[in-house]
Amino acid sequence: MMASYISADKIEEIRSAADIVEIVSNYVTLKQRGKNYFGLCPFHPEKTPSFSVNPEKQIFHCFGCGVGGNVIAFIMKIENLQFPEAVKFLADKLGITIPEIASGGERSKERLTLFKVNKFAAEYFQHNLLNTNAGKPALEYLQQRGFSEEIIHKFQLGFAPDCWDGLLRAAQKQNISAEWLYKVGLVIPKGQGGYYDRFRGRVIFPIHNLAGMVVGFGGRILQVEVEAPKYINSPETPVYQKGRILYGLFQNKEAVREHDQVILVEGYADLLSLVQFGVDNVVATSGTALTAEQARVILRYTRNVVILYDGDIAGALAAMRGVDVLLAEGLQVKVVMLPQEHDPDTFVRQQGKEELLKLIANAQDFIDFKITAFTAEKALDSPQRKAELVRILTETIAQIKDEVMRNFYIKDVAEKLDVEEAVIHREMARIFRRRSTQTVKESLPPVSNARLKAEQGLIEILIRFQNMIPPVYHHLELEEICDHKNRELLSLIFQHYTAHGRVNPQHLMDYIDDGEMLNLLANILAKDEEPNFDVQRWAEDCVRTIKIGNIQQQINQIRQQMKQTETKAEEMANLNAEYIRLTQLQMNLKKQRLFEEQ
Ligand code: GTP
Ligand code: MN
Repeated sequence: MMASYISADKIEEIRSAADIVEIVSNYVTLKQRGKNYFGLCPFHPEKTPSFSVNPEKQIFHCFGCGVGGNVIAFIMKIENLQFPEAVKFLADKLGITIPEIASGGERSKERLTLFKVNKFAAEYFQHNLLNTNAGKPALEYLQQRGFSEEIIHKFQLGFAPDCWDGLLRAAQKQNISAEWLYKVGLVIPKGQGGYYDRFRGRVIFPIHNLAGMVVGFGGRILQVEVEAPKYINSPETPVYQKGRILYGLFQNKEAVREHDQVILVEGYADLLSLVQFGVDNVVATSGTALTAEQARVILRYTRNVVILYDGDIAGALAAMRGVDVLLAEGLQVKVVMLPQEHDPDTFVRQQGKEELLKLIANAQDFIDFKITAFTAEKALDSPQRKAELVRILTETIAQIKDEVMRNFYIKDVAEKLDVEEAVIHREMARIFRRRSTQTVKESLPPVSNARLKAEQGLIEILIRFQNMIPPVYHHLELEEICDHKNRELLSLIFQHYTAHGRVNPQHLMDYIDDGEMLNLLANILAKDEEPNFDVQRWAEDCVRTIKIGNIQQQINQIRQQMKQTETKAEEMANLNAEYIRLTQLQMNLKKQRLFEEQ
């Protein structure tokens, strides 16, 4: 039903024009090994590459989590689009025109429209900056900060004029409704109805995803004043999840790969300045704390991170937190402390590229950085102070997964602080004990029978009643399936469906070598009586049971963590909030009919 809206010829044309290695390379660093290319799977966290691309067959496959398919399936998964939208997405990238398509799913049609609205807005902002009188002061501002035309174009900088409805009116002319602008966060509702522009009188920094689509915006005021914030940003939207995006990665990813190193800065201006000065292996967090997801995105391009934050206390604190997040994801971390009064932008401007590169080359190992930062605040003049520092460092080292590396750093700390290694080992053991009481309970979740039954039920439904595949695919993430065999089979079903528009169970069997699964399939095929019940209800119930079970597992984990006596007050508040969110989610699930589109 979905694929039929675009002619098979067109799909074939697009598929053969798209080189899977090239497309996947936008998202994953691939290394050739024999006929195939390998990289870190973008669909599940991993430290060694089990994700492969086969250029001959034009397919990808992950041995780790089992995802696989052709180039269209890859785009569907990584851009969270359904089949027709993924085809359209590729067509756009390749410059192939296809007739307007009817869509397979509301949600992914919406995503495409959100991209389109953002693209329109970015062009509107840039037009204002470059071609209007109102934009002159902004252009002068950027020039005075030293940003070249090349930088302005490369990063699609723009200007939002200082009025309440500039964007609204421009959009109207293009038949883009205020509601759509609202959905991407570009306008704000007025109390008495109607909307007004969010960005007014600001230089605009569009934020791109890895495919180069604009997903959000940052806006800087021209003259810093007390009443207005210096920067404002788009809110989170379905296409802009702040914890997943790194500013500048789209433009700089090749440089990051080539250097096999990324420089992490905080500000838009910092990033642009560095690039302007020819240091282009840089990305920015843009004002939010670094997340584990961002760390994993970085890991797809390089293992080596140099943190380059502001030289003040806020910068140092942010760097301290960043170190732990990066280490926990297996990255290698160094830190540059700039002179107090500097941020990367002012430093490179004043001291030049060579001085900056020197600092980067001499970046401190994270341990030395933490010692320096701590002792800058507090003198190590008492045993208590020293013990405090040892605990901080041990917590950080405990993030490292590799035991050899951990031991190396334990020795390092022991030497530098002049304490017995045994002391650190004991502290480490305490941390691990605390963690393992958590993880043992986490890794043995009591998987309810109901949940497993629901998973198998779903497999049966999808094979026997294939019109249920799109809504289920829409509402369920494979990660929510707890039994890995069930997950593989469901993944296979989705892949076949997206590739062929239907699933041939015989064909499916060619791909399965697990006896249990083959039995399950055979049993399903043996049933051919017409159902005398509501299949959609059944499917919904299965999905609901799976989701509720999944959330319950998370709730149980949080309960365990809350019982831990070492949990700090701040952490406790977070756990509590998360607990409430999950219970609420679970309650809502119990009430909703899932598959009805609003
Ligand atoms: P310039 O003053 O233009 O050089 O910016 P900067 O990058 O030096 O800014 P700063 O170091 O103050 O902040 C770093 C980043 O934090 C910015 O790039 C923004 O993403 C974010 N940020 C700064 N100020 C604000 C603010 O007032 N509100 C919000 N939401 N974010 C801000
Ligand atoms: Mn600055």
